[in-house]
Formats: sequence, structure tokens, C-alpha cells
Amino acid sequence: MLNDLHRAPLFAALKKHARQNPAGFHIPGHGQGLPPELATHAGQALCALDLTELPGLDDLHNPTGPIAAAQDLAAKIYGSDRSFFLVNGTTVGIHALITALVRQNKVIIARNAHRSVLGGLVLSGADPVYVLPDIIPDFAIDCGIRPAVIRQALAVSPDAAAVLAVRPNYYGVAGDLGGMARVAHEAGIPVLVDEAHGAHLRFHRDLPRDAMDAGADAAVQSTHKLGGSLGQSAMLHLRGDLVDTDAVAAALRLLQTTSPSYLLMASLDLARRRLSRQGGDLMEKALCLARSVRDRLAGSRNLRILTADCLSGENCVLDSTKLVISVRGLGLTGYQVSELLAARYKVFVEMADFYNIVAFISMGTTAEDCNRLVEALQDVAARNKLPALPPQPAAPSIYKKVMKPRDAWFARSRKVPLAGARGEISAEVIAVYPPGIPVLNPGEEITDEIYEYLLDVSKWGLSCQGPSDPTLKTIKIVIE
Ligand SMILES: Cc1ncc(COP(=O)(O)O)c(C=O)c1O
Repeated sequence: MLNDLHRAPLFAALKKHARQNPAGFHIPGHGQGLPPELATHAGQALCALDLTELPGLDDLHNPTGPIAAAQDLAAKIYGSDRSFFLVNGTTVGIHALITALVRQNKVIIARNAHRSVLGGLVLSGADPVYVLPDIIPDFAIDCGIRPAVIRQALAVSPDAAAVLAVRPNYYGVAGDLGGMARVAHEAGIPVLVDEAHGAHLRFHRDLPRDAMDAGADAAVQSTHKLGGSLGQSAMLHLRGDLVDTDAVAAALRLLQTTSPSYLLMASLDLARRRLSRQGGDLMEKALCLARSVRDRLAGSRNLRILTADCLSGENCVLDSTKLVISVRGLGLTGYQVSELLAARYKVFVEMADFYNIVAFISMGTTAEDCNRLVEALQDVAARNKLPALPPQPAAPSIYKKVMKPRDAWFARSRKVPLAGARGEISAEVIAVYPPGIPVLNPGEEITDEIYEYLLDVSKWGLSCQGPSDPTLKTIKIVIE
């Protein structure tokens, strides 16, 4: 036992990973693109920058000095009226937007929203009105919300306080935000955008327009994902009169730590400077690498890459630096291929779902990494000759909300076997990937259709996110 205390298992695991010379296609996107000023401050010198609110170093919660100046420069480059540095990822930005701007009102939300949105709903007591995105059949992934769907939702819920969209989604698909913004603005309400995957978009014309440019009133970006800053650092941008800047600032003071890391904040400042100076070149390089991987894999039998031609809906575009590769034709799941790539070739992709793997090409990706990815995938494809995977069970598309997520979250609950859950109210989220659209949110009824689907999911052993028991043998229900 005492000997155990000499171990540092997390540190050891990180060192082991680094020693295997991995080719990484995942976030954080800095890779070798970490702002050089930070990279050269390795080791002890880096500790010298890990400071606190000393004289001259400002205060994130009431910035008037260098933090204010750094945020103002971020606002300038990102086209916002005001930008905020975040030290708990996009997650805290979403929480702040919902608690400050929606409060306990209705909000129209894309059903494919990230789980941080549920956090915002639980914290605030807001009432979600879900709208469904289109699905791209061959990849089973979502394709953004059509503006007409927002219009219909507003006709049914004219008292909604905001529209909350995810754009681009995890797979790089960017829906018609301009159209959504027009519909929301006609109704006099703001569009809040989860732009976790969009910190890099503004810097190249071949990437989708970013949220501030497309007419959003608020956008939260995980700068750490694709903007080149350190993990966890992010930015929130606000623009126009439909958002109450003071209310958002107050919510951030409530939700963020009182000990924000100066390393994270400095990395945001340096990432912004790097993007301002070299964003075009860095994105050009990433786009070229992505194009060459796409071209080289295009002829591979049994692998299919998501391209702009696969998208449905007007004005829906693709961030082509994200490689969504369907491996269905190999007879292997995305999870299996992701594991093979890691174990056999030391190639690490960002994510996998039942049908697809997703590799991110970012400013840190090298041509050598791309060669390894292509060769590894070609090798996997050459070795596997199984019949293609059958289609997954179809997910239900009708949901029955009985309680607000907050009420269900705080209600008494218990776990019951799935068989006993039919007709009950779920106390948890269950989302199956793809498409990652929750089949249940807290406060929704486990209808017959949903129950049958969950039985199939459990029989197939599909991977679920959200439930306390991912095997779905049991499920947490509300006891009223
Ligand atoms: C679509 C989306 N939104 C929000 C988040 C949360 O971002 P962060 O990890 O920076 O808090 C993620 C993270 O993966 C995401 O994919």
C-alpha cells in the first residue's frame, strides 16, 4: 500500500503515451503548433509563468489591465463587441449563456446539442424545445438544423428566449447559421452558438464562415480544440443588442474558478496572436494535408470519406480538415478500427462511433502523421474482408417531455432494470453514437418506441453516452 503511494499513475500513462511516437489526429490541435513562446518556456521556466493576480497581472473577473487588453484584441480579430477568456472550456461558456440569457424561459435547442447544454439547463431551470437535425444516411450523422425547422418551432413556442445551435458539429458539418439567425432575429431573439469546433474557421476562405460572421449574437469556441491554445482554454464572443453583456459577465464570475490559470490565459493570448499573424498559412497547410489524405484514401475499397456532396440542405457546408471516414464496408465498427489504429500503428484518432472514425487535421498535424494515417488505414482495409456491417436499429424521432431537465435532475430517482422502465420518466440522458442525438433526456418519457429501441441498443451492445449504466441493463428513472 505504502509502495503504491510512490506511483504517479496518470503522469506515468502520459509519459508512456508520449514515448511511443504517436501520430495524433485529435485535440488539442496545437501538436507541434503550440505557440512557440510557450513551448520554449518548458520545464522550470514554465512554472515561472504559472502565476496569480499579482500587481500588474490583472484579474479575470474584473479585468482592467493586460487581461482586458488581451480580450479586446481577441474581440477585434473575432469580430465581436466583447470577448471573454474561459478556463473551463466551451462548457462553462454554454453554462453562462444559458443561465444569463435564457434563465428559466424556453429555448429552442438542436437535439444534437453537447452535454454541456444539459448542464446549462439544469443550472438555470430553462425549458428546452428540441428541434431535430437532418441525418446524412450513409454516415448516420447529423447535418445541422434547417431554418424552416426553427421557424416552425417558434410558431409553436413564440415565447422562446433564444435559439441555441451547435455549429459546426463534431463531424465538421456546418448548417445554415445565416438562415437560422434571420429567423431568430425576425422574432427578436438571439442565436447562441456552440462553436466549440470553430476557433480556426475565420482564418481561411475555404472553411465555413464562423458564427460571428454568419450573424450569431453569441458564440463559444474551444480555442484549445482547433485554435492552438492549451487544453481547457476557450473564448466566448458576444455581439449586438440582443445579448446582455453584463449578465453574461456576471454568470461567468459565478461559474468560473477564482484561481484561473495564467498559463491557460496566456496561451489564449498567444494563440490569438499566432492566428492573427499566420492563421491563413496555418489553415492553408491543414487544408492541403487534409486534401491529400482525402485524395489518397478516395480509391480505397470499403472506406468512404464524408465530402460536401453528401450534405443535405441549402447552405450546409463542411470543414474539410475533419476527416469522417466510414469503415462500415470493412465489417468492423469505428470503435474496432480506432483501437486497431492505436494498438498496431500508434495512430490516434479524435473519436469513433459505430460506423465512422473521425480524424482531425489541425495546425499541429504533420505530413509524416498523415502518411502514417493513410498507410495504417490502407493496411487495415487490405487485411479485413468481412461482410459490411448491417444498418443499426433506427432511432426514434418523437420525444415526450414530461418535466424540465432541472426538475428531473433534482427529483428523487432510482435505478430499475430496463424491462421495468417502460412508461417511466428518465432521470438521465441516453445518446447513441452515431448520430449522438439523445434518445432520452432527463424528464422525458420512456415511450414504447423508445423502450423497444433501447432493447435493440442493449442487444447490439451499441455504445451509449450519458447513462449511469452504459450497458443499459438498468436505467435511472424519476420517482414522483
Ligand atoms: C460540440 C461540442 N460542444 C461543446 C463541447 C465542450 O467543449 P469543452 O471541452 O471545451 O468544454 C464539446 C467538446 O467536445 C463539443 O464537441
